[in-house]
Amino acid sequence: MEVTLLDYYGRELNLWAAEGNTARLNEARSKLRETWDAVRPEVAAKGGATEAAQFDALVAKLARATLPKDFTAAAGPILDSVDALENVFTRAQSSPSTGALVDRGRYLATIGGCGDCHTPKTASMEPDASRLLSGAPADAPAPSAPNKPGEVVSSSGSTAFHGPWGISYAANLTPDPETGIAKDYTEQSFIQALRTGKSPDGGSILPPMPWQNYSTMTDDDLKALWAYLQSLKPVKNQVKPPVHAAGVKGAA
Ligand code: HEC
Repeated sequence: MEVTLLDYYGRELNLWAAEGNTARLNEARSKLRETWDAVRPEVAAKGGATEAAQFDALVAKLARATLPKDFTAAAGPILDSVDALENVFTRAQSSPSTGALVDRGRYLATIGGCGDCHTPKTASMEPDASRLLSGAPADAPAPSAPNKPGEVVSSSGSTAFHGPWGISYAANLTPDPETGIAKDYTEQSFIQALRTGKSPDGGSILPPMPWQNYSTMTDDDLKALWAYLQSLKPVKNQVKPPVHAAGVKGAA
């Protein structure tokens, strides 16, 4: 591709500068310029605006060269910068797949119903988009105690639950560095937790978190889900620790 041609003409500049061949130097310079004019829009369109501006400056410096040593001085940085231009194309190749990964994760989180429990709701029980997946609000009252054995009572907004196991509060799944999931989890331990129902500290993840349903997801799907969670707006919300009911199996 054209970026390789830039490298080629950069080397020609060095070669003809060493030989002091002004005619060839001028020729290589105008070829390099032409190539750059052709490739520049693509570099900028692929998110390489910074790299393009840097290369513009190098081409402008080359345009001012008169003596062979000026050409040599201009050619060095040009050759170095060709790598940076190539990186723009490599980056552009990998980023659509990152976008696709996040899209897949969003899809899985939606059909997996994560927001049913992990997103606070408005007074009319609509998911509160400004606090997407940020867990049981720290300032919300705990759910009432169940009246009958085996009953489960949810908080208003359905993010905290009081049942035979005690009280569980849906976790903050956003990437907030202090209160979000990434504080305790990596991609690996996230996958492990959804597969086994154990958090990284070894404790059992309490009901009603339906990890059993997610445990059969493929590695790729769980990675996509993690990538999506990491792409969320960080929301600061320190979720309360669970309250374990005494003597209940799995509530240790
Ligand atoms: C029916 C409600 C419900 C649904 C649906 C749900 N969760 Fe949970 N989740 C919870 C509760 C409650 C907890 C807290 C459990 C505890 O305290 O041990 C929790 C805990 C977690 C944890 C462990 C956090 C920690 O602090 O160790 C992760 C990770 C998690 N959920 C991810 C998800 C993902 C991803 C989805 C969707 C694919 C999801 N959850 C769907 C209720 C739910």
